Amino acid sequence: MIMARFLLRNTLGACVRGGVALSVAALFANAAQAQDASAGTGIEHGRYLAIASDCVACHTASGGKPFAGGLDLNTPFGIITTSNITSDKATGIGSWTFQQFDAAVRHGKGANGNLYPAMPYTSYVKMTDSDVADLWAYMRTVPPVSQKVVENKLPFPYNIRSALVAWNLLFFDKKPFTPDSTKSAAVNRGAYLVEVLEHCGICHTPKSILGHDSSATYQGTSLQGWHAPDLTNNDHTGLGTWSAKDIETYLRSGTNRHTASSGPMTEVIVNSTQHLTDADLQAIAAYFKALPARTVDVPRPLPATNAQMAAGKREFVVQCSACHTSNGLGVANMIPTLQSNPAINAKSPDSLLNILLMGTSGPATVANPTGAAMPGFAWKLHDDQIASVLTYIRNSQDNAAPAVLAADVAKARKALNAQQTVWH
Ligand code: HEC
Ligand code: HEC
Ligand code: HEC
Repeated sequence: MIMARFLLRNTLGACVRGGVALSVAALFANAAQAQDASAGTGIEHGRYLAIASDCVACHTASGGKPFAGGLDLNTPFGIITTSNITSDKATGIGSWTFQQFDAAVRHGKGANGNLYPAMPYTSYVKMTDSDVADLWAYMRTVPPVSQKVVENKLPFPYNIRSALVAWNLLFFDKKPFTPDSTKSAAVNRGAYLVEVLEHCGICHTPKSILGHDSSATYQGTSLQGWHAPDLTNNDHTGLGTWSAKDIETYLRSGTNRHTASSGPMTEVIVNSTQHLTDADLQAIAAYFKALPARTVDVPRPLPATNAQMAAGKREFVVQCSACHTSNGLGVANMIPTLQSNPAINAKSPDSLLNILLMGTSGPATVANPTGAAMPGFAWKLHDDQIASVLTYIRNSQDNAAPAVLAADVAKARKALNAQQTVWH
């Protein structure tokens, strides 16, 4: 019923406007102030769990106070607004017991009845007892913010929370997390981080029509004008050519020798993964490298004689090569290589269209504070020019992917409100 990718639309929209990055700085400040000698390590560990689970990303309105809620998530049925989960007694969860908190976070039962699965209780259900207890210890130290949130503005009949009983019966897998004894401790820790806390699949796994994860785990999917790429082990569209170290570096800094993050992933890195310990980042990398190898159909690249390819190459030389260099190799740690780039090989050109039309800036992380930027081309290139240059980079430099059509560009332009302003 609730489709996470629709929900994420507005979550991400708000994140990209920058409210959340500020909130995380505040989160650290609050945590430091809240240090209480008698509280011990439970609170500190709980703060780490809150960052790893990215609670603040959804529970903070753009420019609002951390955890005070009020962020609108747009669903196909109407708007669901995130709750105030600060320690305010009247408008937050300050008067809650641990049992109530646990019921909400792990079992999807909130103050007003069943929660919509926009709240990822379907992942958090696998959190260990001691982690939920530490998370609660931390949440109690979050300063109270008085802000009344009306969570549910859905029209009849979607406002009937009891309908979610049926959804839960069908899709809510309550089995606790069980380590796989055939795998290393690092891979099991990685599984816990990826599947339970970070819920990476919420964006990278395609959803079924009823809004639960399909069986194409981590095979990539599109959300709000972006494509969250394939994270499975294959050399063409996935992470087959990435070493464990490459994954770790990317999640810590936002860039590595293959690519740089641009859109929603930048928010995940800035708010969450850059703050994880080295051991946890290594565990996540070990988990992805331990996924079974997968074969995908690799299309034949279009020949250089193809008309779109010839036009795209001319465009590339004029518009792109100054930064990306004529062979697409770029500049280490600043301008990502376009060669053998799985994100460019993705069947869906959504992220490429977004980057080309709107431009992009790299993440500014502690490990990579300068984050380089690329200008948008919406204002100066026609739809067919953008289609050609994308078709060219998707079929040269060891890449191979379906051509991009002018109609695809026109559609993306409309969705992103990216008008051309110079006609020539
Ligand atoms: C992907 C977005 C998202 C993330 C991440 C998220 N939440 Fe939520 N949460 C929601 C939404 C949406 C609701 C309201 C759902 C509803 O009204 O049915 C909610 C509701 C809640 C509630 C119930 C409040 C009430 O008044 O009933 C609690 C408690 C809560 N979240 C805690 C957390 C904690 C703790 C974390 C991190 C471990 C977290 N949430 C992460 C989206 C999110
Ligand atoms: C909010 C949605 C979202 C979440 C959550 C998310 N991702 Fe992403 N991810 C994306 C999108 C969209 C892109 C591509 C565009 C960009 O850079 O934002 C991406 C890109 C990536 C890439 C680059 C792949 C390539 O071929 O260039 C990796 C690796 C990655 N994500 C891993 C992860 C991991 C690991 C997690 C969990 C810790 C995660 N993602 C969580 C949306 C998400
Ligand atoms: C002024 C320098 C500059 C110009 C000109 C430029 N780019 Fe970029 N490009 C960048 C930078 C910097 C990034 C990385 C941004 C980031 O970190 O998100 C980038 C990223 C990209 C990416 C994403 C790569 C990945 O791994 O995610 C693609 C695709 C791309 N550029 C294509 C093009 C094309 C096609 C053109 C010409 C139409 C072009 N660029 C022109 C600097 C430039």
